[in-house]
Amino acid sequence: MITNTELEFKGDLYPSKIVSFEHDVDSVFFNTFNSVVLKITVVRDSLIRFRYTTKGYFSNDFSYAIDKSHSHGYNFLEVTEEAEYYQIQTSKLKCVIQKIDMRVSIYDLNGNVLLEDELGFHWEESYEYGGNIVKMSKASKDGECFYGLGDKATQMNLKGKRLENFATDQYAFQKDQEPLYKVVPFFIGLQNKQAYGIFFDNTFRTFFDFCHERRNVTSFWAEGGEMNYYFIHGPQMEDVVTSYTDLTGKPELPPLWALGYHQCKWSYFPESNVKEITSKFRELKIPCDAIYLDIDYMEGFRCFTWNKEYFPDPKRMVAELAEDGFKTVVIIDPGIKIDKEYAVYKEALEKDYFCKRADGPYMKGKVWPGECNFPDYTNPEVREWWAGLFKELISDIGVKGVWNDMNEPAVMEVPNKTFPMDVRHDYDGNPCSHRKAHNIYGTQMARATYHGVKRFAYPKRPFIITRSAYAGAQRYTSSWTGDNVATWEHLWIANIQVQRMSISGMGFTGSDIGGFAEQPSGELYTRWIQLGVFHPFCRTHSSGDHGDQEPWAFDTEVIDITRKFVNLRYQLLPYLYTMFWQYIEEGIPMLKPLVYYDQSDIQTHYRNDEFIFGNQILVCPILEPNSLGRRMYIPRGQWYNYWTNSLVIGGKEIWVDTKFDEIPVFVKAGAIIPKYPVQQYVGELEFDELTLDLYYKEGKEKSVVYEDAQDGYDYKKGRYSFLTFRVTGKEKELNIQLHKEGKYDTNYSKYKINLIGFPFKVKSIEIDNEEVLFDRVKFEEDNYLIVGKEFNVLHIIGE
Ligand code: GLC
Repeated sequence: MITNTELEFKGDLYPSKIVSFEHDVDSVFFNTFNSVVLKITVVRDSLIRFRYTTKGYFSNDFSYAIDKSHSHGYNFLEVTEEAEYYQIQTSKLKCVIQKIDMRVSIYDLNGNVLLEDELGFHWEESYEYGGNIVKMSKASKDGECFYGLGDKATQMNLKGKRLENFATDQYAFQKDQEPLYKVVPFFIGLQNKQAYGIFFDNTFRTFFDFCHERRNVTSFWAEGGEMNYYFIHGPQMEDVVTSYTDLTGKPELPPLWALGYHQCKWSYFPESNVKEITSKFRELKIPCDAIYLDIDYMEGFRCFTWNKEYFPDPKRMVAELAEDGFKTVVIIDPGIKIDKEYAVYKEALEKDYFCKRADGPYMKGKVWPGECNFPDYTNPEVREWWAGLFKELISDIGVKGVWNDMNEPAVMEVPNKTFPMDVRHDYDGNPCSHRKAHNIYGTQMARATYHGVKRFAYPKRPFIITRSAYAGAQRYTSSWTGDNVATWEHLWIANIQVQRMSISGMGFTGSDIGGFAEQPSGELYTRWIQLGVFHPFCRTHSSGDHGDQEPWAFDTEVIDITRKFVNLRYQLLPYLYTMFWQYIEEGIPMLKPLVYYDQSDIQTHYRNDEFIFGNQILVCPILEPNSLGRRMYIPRGQWYNYWTNSLVIGGKEIWVDTKFDEIPVFVKAGAIIPKYPVQQYVGELEFDELTLDLYYKEGKEKSVVYEDAQDGYDYKKGRYSFLTFRVTGKEKELNIQLHKEGKYDTNYSKYKINLIGFPFKVKSIEIDNEEVLFDRVKFEEDNYLIVGKEFNVLHIIGE
């Protein structure tokens, strides 16, 4: 038995001997002599919840993170009692609970230890606040790696780190700085090439220690609330991440335009300035779908008002922008200006919707408008009211998206940058202090905003973006990584943050391209946009106090490269949309760090820079000035260099040459990559063919393409098109089998298939077993085929 004198010295308490247990359907309760109860619930065969109380009974079970529609149900559950321990077995796992001290070990059915308690559950009583500081420590093996936890600005592999979760407005944060804006208390452990996950669903300030304080010990603890965590069995990371995402929920599809390029600055005003920006995009032919209005569009920063001097007729302006293909997105912050003449303030005051201090006064704090009160979004009635406030913006004025900021919540000119901890919250009928509600505040604001925008945008889809978030926020909103800086180091951070968010269930994320604070050089901006177009959310934003950050703020070379990469993103929209579909359907992360892509290759365990965009495109940013290429790891398999079409065999680190207008991009052999023509905005063009880039492979590969009406909810009624292409390549032939699902008929009638990397000359082509004529001369020049979209089998035969 391990004893920890240091912890005991601090006054830690431990469960004593188990004296009884009860089994009730999917849950088993273990009671100790000193009133600790451990409730183990089998959610699924591979997903087990552990909940502890030290007072002999549990408080109300309530979570903002868990999606009520998550899957549950198991195939097998057996509880047995042995002399020294109890055992719970499912069809995937075995969980052993020691009678003497309640320590838990989890095994797979082959008897391999997946995770075991070191000290296990222990706690410290909190005299000041009541309740406990709840702690858990697990034994960690040599070579174990850790991933996840949301927006942490540190290496992908968290081994050796201690991290803190407390939503914080961290302007110009630095590498390794803690804590940041978001709180996702979920991590993935990888040990012995097997992955598991832990989701510690506790909204208090939490900490995770991955062998930082003590070698071979992983621990996590919270300043209050319950020790309440879920163990998620892999063995693949994909199993862990998709189960976690199922548990905490998936978003709906965004409108396709939201996957286009967005332009933002603090702030574009007045109207003429906004129009100058949007016209310039069209003039320079750099695609753009969304233009943002930051806080200056409001009257004295009062949410839901307009500065009529800058924007005399917002409805007309928004309509004119829409005619040119621009969707207007506006910022809405939580701070409501204390102003007796201001309708939103008056109504909230009248209805008693603002957060209060412990002894009664309203929580007052300074934000952009000066002294503000703050709605308590943890009150369902307040959320309903807030949702209703969007009527004018969305229904009448025609705004298409809402940007929620400062919702950590941020307060200016106070040392802790946020509310005092005594502030009271409703917490959906579980009244509590800010200690418990702090980390969830931003998510509840985004949730209320989402419901409002959705209500008034219907039958179109809403678009919401938030800065602060807790696990589960992905059900309502996209996010960005906050106030970064225009430095090379921040480009490195952005790359990791977005990958990490992706495997933490919150994939619809991007960084402020070019950096928010300070001024990027043309080179840095270029390298950033080259990465940013491969992020699910793609927006340039800057604080505006150092000059401009539109592409044309730099020289023509930068403008041209920006156009080239934004064009590429627009071409890849069907590919991007398909990965979004796989995310909302199956919880599959849109970006896959290399370790996720191939966990059995230990070379991937400490990689940071390379990632898989979707399923078949490998991307690696250039992160240093004056680079003519870089070293990078190519994961196992065969990959085509996107720029040169030359084939590389992976499983090794190589040097890749690039020019200033390229970053390393590789396509998996056998892949079919769907492309649209370049459009200046989504829906600009009608086109009659879908381009398919087909990369030859000797062997098999599957590719899928999801499409629908690009907005609206018909897809939920089956009106979508889902194409599965199965490629089988041999030495002198290649076969494509096409399978279609869904009731949506795409507008185009044919495919233009680009043949890439074919080692043979094409002799003949058969469609559904019939030889078809093709223009050989033309084909040999252009290397593509045009075929009607209604085929089942396409057979390309070589000579
Ligand atoms: C915060 C946001 C930033 C925004 C600014 C003004 O700093 O993070 O994106 O531009 O506030 O609203």
